Amino acid sequence: MAAQPLDADTIRDANTRYHDEAAAHYDAKWGIDYGGIGQTQVLGKVAKALGGQVGSFGRSLEIGAGTGYFSLNLLQAGIVEQAVATDISPGMLDALQVNARRLGLEVETVACDAEALPFADGSFDLVFGHAVLHHLPDLDQAFREFRRVLRPGGTVVFAGEPSRVGDRLASVPKRTAFALAPVWRRLLGAAAAADPGQHGGADAQLGEIVDVHAFVPDELARHARGAGLQDVKVRGEELLANWFGWANRTLESTAEPDDVPMAWRQYAYHGYLLFQAVDQRFLESRLPAAIFYNLMVSGRSPSS
Ligand SMILES: C[S@@+](CC[C@H](N)C(=O)[O-])C[C@H]1O[C@@H](n2cnc3c(N)ncnc32)[C@H](O)[C@@H]1O
Repeated sequence: MAAQPLDADTIRDANTRYHDEAAAHYDAKWGIDYGGIGQTQVLGKVAKALGGQVGSFGRSLEIGAGTGYFSLNLLQAGIVEQAVATDISPGMLDALQVNARRLGLEVETVACDAEALPFADGSFDLVFGHAVLHHLPDLDQAFREFRRVLRPGGTVVFAGEPSRVGDRLASVPKRTAFALAPVWRRLLGAAAAADPGQHGGADAQLGEIVDVHAFVPDELARHARGAGLQDVKVRGEELLANWFGWANRTLESTAEPDDVPMAWRQYAYHGYLLFQAVDQRFLESRLPAAIFYNLMVSGRSPSS
């Protein structure tokens, strides 16, 4: 998170440039999948956020859609009929269209700021996003926009938002992995990275600016209720999976990417999925939302 408060335009500009540059490597970096695994993940998150069944929706609007992780998987799973995907980064939306074409899907993409949506009032049945709220300078304005474009009785779902406590807890595996990195590289025969800390080639300084919030559950609920949404619920997900994921990503970021063996990447990916299942099955229903790494919020626009 940035040390100094920055003005909203600087944050938006940094987000546009950072994500434009990250777009080409984004899916590979985050292991984003558009097959069965991706659909199961996305449906699982939406179901969890809504507290059970997903249902189906006519016209959906995604905020900060990136390369299409949520919209493309929801379309393929038949959860949404017609998808509009927005993002402040045209580069991300270009990558999304490449993915959509490869999958034979039709999606309308619109480059815009979440706080000023170029859509008519009441024009969507579902407004959703993944890992985007923490980039938005004015969350009250953004939630007012989400509510405005939602039809009466429509649904809002946002998942993958960093939790303040979860973020602090995740610094432990990151620091531990960083300390162990030289030994890990020696074991794998990997050379030290020429540009450690770079994120998929995107500029590291911009990376310091783009994340402007980490949340406690009550904050997210307050933004949603402040916009007039009803039945607001906040839940937490991923604890062990995130510690495992951050430890591995920290190790990998210290090595030359081509020196990290495929077997290691497979282990990291499948291990992450395994820990996700453990979190889901045993921890998420028992522990307070605040300690998980990711928070999700859902709500409904009043019926009339
Ligand atoms: C962490 S990425 C998540 C992308 C995608 N939702 C996913 O889960 O893979 C955050 C996305 O939010 C977008 N974003 C950042 N600030 C934004 C803003 N003010 N309005 C709309 N999108 C924004 C970024 O360009 C980026 O694509």
